[in-house]
Amino acid sequence: MRVMKIGVLFSGRGTNLKSIIERSKQEGCCYEVVVAITDNLSAPGIQLATELGVNCVVVPNKNWEWHIYDILNKFNVELTVLAGFMRILPTLFCMRWENRCINIHPSLLPKYKGLHTHRRALEAGDVIHGCSIHFVTPELDDGPIVAQEQVLIQPGDTEQSLAARVLERENLLYPEVIQCIASRKITSFDNKVSFNGVKIESPLSLNDLL
Ligand code: GRF
Repeated sequence: MRVMKIGVLFSGRGTNLKSIIERSKQEGCCYEVVVAITDNLSAPGIQLATELGVNCVVVPNKNWEWHIYDILNKFNVELTVLAGFMRILPTLFCMRWENRCINIHPSLLPKYKGLHTHRRALEAGDVIHGCSIHFVTPELDDGPIVAQEQVLIQPGDTEQSLAARVLERENLLYPEVIQCIASRKITSFDNKVSFNGVKIESPLSLNDLL
């Protein structure tokens, strides 16, 4: 079995990073996390990655993008996974990693790009919220959407309660999307995502992937 080398970029608590690494250790998994990279020296995710036996590198503030670029090359990373990485990647980076870099965002894109997605969904009176995984393009939180999970907004939901339920779905969905990319079930070309060789018309869900 061919195992795809992935690198995860993160800035904070690292729950997605953790679920991605844990999934990689299951039998039959087609990907391996060869490096985790952060821009934040005090990110809790550093300890999570280290405890799970994954190399974790902290990049300096100055020229962080070039450091990341070099580290990904040094570890022969084939797929770059953004998991709560709080910096905007330069256009050149996105172009170099076209079709080989994915991001998770806590909203049903194209709704609520940027920050405070849960608050904005509540303020808008939405009934459904969720998370999206997309291939990265130079536009922020843009790029072909691969998969989404929906979460029903309940009466009395707060930003925190809603965020927690969305995060649960994120932690389940992200590893499965990566597994499908690593096993070439999911591909991206020319801004179109295909699943099992067929272009998708709407985002996949976790059920489609299992
Ligand atoms: C997640 O909500 C993700 O959607 C967003 O940043 C958060 C990262 O959470 N891009 P964690 O660090 O993986 O726990």
